[in-house]
Amino acid sequence: MSTHIQIVPDSLALAGAGADWLAHRITRKPDLTILVATGQTPMGMYGHLAARVQAGTLDCSRVTAVQLDEYMGLEPDDPRSLRGWMERAFVFPLGIRNVVPLDDPATFTARLRDLGGLDVAVLGLGPNGHLGFNEPPSSPDAPTREVTLTPESLESNRGYWDGLAVPTQAITAGMDVILAAHETLLLVSGTHKQAILGAALDGPQTPDVPASFLRRTALTVLADREARP
Ligand code: PGA
Repeated sequence: MSTHIQIVPDSLALAGAGADWLAHRITRKPDLTILVATGQTPMGMYGHLAARVQAGTLDCSRVTAVQLDEYMGLEPDDPRSLRGWMERAFVFPLGIRNVVPLDDPATFTARLRDLGGLDVAVLGLGPNGHLGFNEPPSSPDAPTREVTLTPESLESNRGYWDGLAVPTQAITAGMDVILAAHETLLLVSGTHKQAILGAALDGPQTPDVPASFLRRTALTVLADREARP
């Protein structure tokens, strides 16, 4: 497939360029089905999109948002719920009415099949090369499933929750779902992602770096100069 790498000066530019990329696709196909990453990296982009919706220049009312990953064992109103984060950062501010939550692998897989799969996957890059919570090693055909988080993911997720413990078990949309998206957007920011982005783009395609398999898709990488000097 094709890999297009766009380097921007900094995380602010990343947010604007990411919003342009996705808004263009929503305008072209208003009922776009989008896999939605949480994490720090896409937050600026989501903020830009919300501003466009508020200004009346973008309509997301027919978009379907698909949840990428979730911790297990939380009450629905737990502040650490990734569904809650996706709703606060993306679904509600963009006026999206259709959501496919990730609560049960079988139900999620059936609903996605009924929708005809993903148009677009918006992804961040884990410090260990994970996509969603497809932790290394994850093969390209790994299905939507329950996983145990690696120490690297527990450590990076700790930064999200202000002292609250990070659950050790999670559910992730499978590699099979992600790699079947018609297009993928990988957002990468900061020096701490430089080495793993290099491995994903320039190294072998290997289950040890799940993001390396994105090169099999129609991939756009949007990285700032700290991540891709
Ligand atoms: P981040 O997380 O955007 O907060 O760096 C990315 C990830 O762990 O997938």
